[in-house]
Amino acid sequence: VPAEIRDTRQLFLHELGDILFVERRLTDEVLPKLIDEVKDRELWSGLKRHHSQTRKHAANVERVFAELGEEPKAEECLGFEGLKSEHEELAKEVSPDLVDVIDTGAAARTEHYEIAAYDGLIAMARSLKEPRAVALLEENLKEDKDALLHVTRAAKRLAREQAKESL
Ligand SMILES: [Fe+2]
Ligand SMILES: [Fe+2]
Repeated sequence: VPAEIRDTRQLFLHELGDILFVERRLTDEVLPKLIDEVKDRELWSGLKRHHSQTRKHAANVERVFAELGEEPKAEECLGFEGLKSEHEELAKEVSPDLVDVIDTGAAARTEHYEIAAYDGLIAMARSLKEPRAVALLEENLKEDKDALLHVTRAAKRLAREQAKESL
């Protein structure tokens, strides 16, 4: 059977479809749910901000498809689905006091996943000599890195507060 993905361009488009799936799922489903359930004010506003950034990330990825003269096509991303079901399983087992802590953990894992995906995509877009695609993807990468920083800081603070409460 001949391989379906035979060159960098095809691989790039496939992985672009993966990240489109992730950004859409985060926008429509995952971030609204997290925003709904977290209690910490600062975490809440960080998630709110990243939600509107994430909506733009999906639009940027669609623009990258257009740059390459292709229709945007999302591909089910099993890595992301795995992170999501891991989190859902854990959420069933933890006490409500720990919801914010596990939500920051899930958010951090997701940002790491996105960052790795964008690093790979940017490298491929460069080798394909698609500077506008590179610029759009770098915009997303930068905001996902900022989000990771924010969520990591929140995770540390929440862990400290949690430890104090359980003294
Ligand atoms: Fe993103
Ligand atoms: Fe993100």
